[in-house]
Amino acid sequence: MRVFKTGLEFARKKDQEDVLNHVRDRFCIKENEIYMDGNSLGLCSKDAKKALYQVVDMWEEHGIGIWDVEDSRYFLYQNVLGEKLAKLINAEPDEVTVMTNTTINIHQGISTFYHPTPDRYKILVDDLNFPTDRYAVDSQVKLKGLDPKDAVKVIPSPDRRLISEDAIIEGMTDDVALILLPSVLYRSAQLLDMERITDEAHKRGIIIGWDLCHSIGAIPHDFKKINPDFAVWCNYKYLSAGPGAIGGFYINKKHFTKEPGLAGWHGNKNETQFQLRHEFDHELNAHGWQTGTQPLFSMAPLEGVLNIYLEAGMESIREKSLDITAYLMYLIEEKLIKYGYSIGNPREDRKRGGHVCLEHEEAYRICKALKQHKVIPDFREPNVIRLAPVALYVSYEDVYKLVHILEEIVVNKEYENFGSERTLVV
Ligand SMILES: Cc1ncc(COP(=O)(O)O)c(C=O)c1O
Repeated sequence: MRVFKTGLEFARKKDQEDVLNHVRDRFCIKENEIYMDGNSLGLCSKDAKKALYQVVDMWEEHGIGIWDVEDSRYFLYQNVLGEKLAKLINAEPDEVTVMTNTTINIHQGISTFYHPTPDRYKILVDDLNFPTDRYAVDSQVKLKGLDPKDAVKVIPSPDRRLISEDAIIEGMTDDVALILLPSVLYRSAQLLDMERITDEAHKRGIIIGWDLCHSIGAIPHDFKKINPDFAVWCNYKYLSAGPGAIGGFYINKKHFTKEPGLAGWHGNKNETQFQLRHEFDHELNAHGWQTGTQPLFSMAPLEGVLNIYLEAGMESIREKSLDITAYLMYLIEEKLIKYGYSIGNPREDRKRGGHVCLEHEEAYRICKALKQHKVIPDFREPNVIRLAPVALYVSYEDVYKLVHILEEIVVNKEYENFGSERTLVV
């Protein structure tokens, strides 16, 4: 049972007791800025910058020779990063690789596993997943000559916030071939019981893939227990690997001999790749699902920041994340509910991810006012202010100040100084 207090002294005491407090200095935190958007694009770290500059220096020094130095470390950089990432989800080191982006990795997963028959041809999805996942699913269905209206089975969310796990399981009918779901819903932060859902899918002979974009780096997963068929994620949110950083891909070792849906020469066995034969002979591990040349500059920052995550440990990160989000919810309830704010995410620890979904009818203009106070939130339609107190670089004092600012903005109607016209991205 967590006990919180409303005063600033309490927040400062929590920071002193925080076992992750020392890590904060490794991130590039701007003075007087409160960064609450790590669930969209994580902050830069000194470690990420150093790793990137190191690769630029290697390129300058070695030219094409960069692929051979240090026992081909950079040619095999996806193995180095896959091994480190595997520890965050308790997978085998060779079940994980990094490549392209989440969207293409969804295409890779589905095109590998989706072989519809007249009886089993549907892909099951939820109503609240991020649009790119749906676009990918719909286009994969169309590539098979099917109509998404028939072949994509959507589990609805009656309240537009949460998805019922029972409804997902009830939806696993005999005509479902594959399931794609998010581990944590991007708006409401609902965390699905991946082990239960995966078990139920497998009992019915259904392939299941997970999108971990909103849980990787915030929640430790145990893939040896969950045992999904494949998973994808981006590394630029909680993992802070930089804008457009390379994506993550997991494939269960039981599927290593399957033919990759999208083949490319970097998926070929390393020993024969440069024989440049026209017969594709893929690596019998996750790296067999690689396609083209590795983008080293979008990979290097990931190595730097992963070192911080592995040193800190996912268990400590989740523990602080749950505590600091609980503290934020406590302050919201104590101080903000009376001003029209409400909490849209589940409250139980086992059902929520790393951000708080704060709702208000003036959410968009409140976000604009927050930025004027040097607080970086993120807005999601129609009325959600997403607030992610990322465990490694957000302090309890930041959260205390944030709530005070949210109060001021509404009490003084500061949001009325802003229009509701949207910018391109945030
Ligand atoms: C659940 C989910 N999937 C995918 C993406 C983005 O995919 P990509 O990395 O291909 O841009 C996001 C981005 O916010 C997301 O929230």
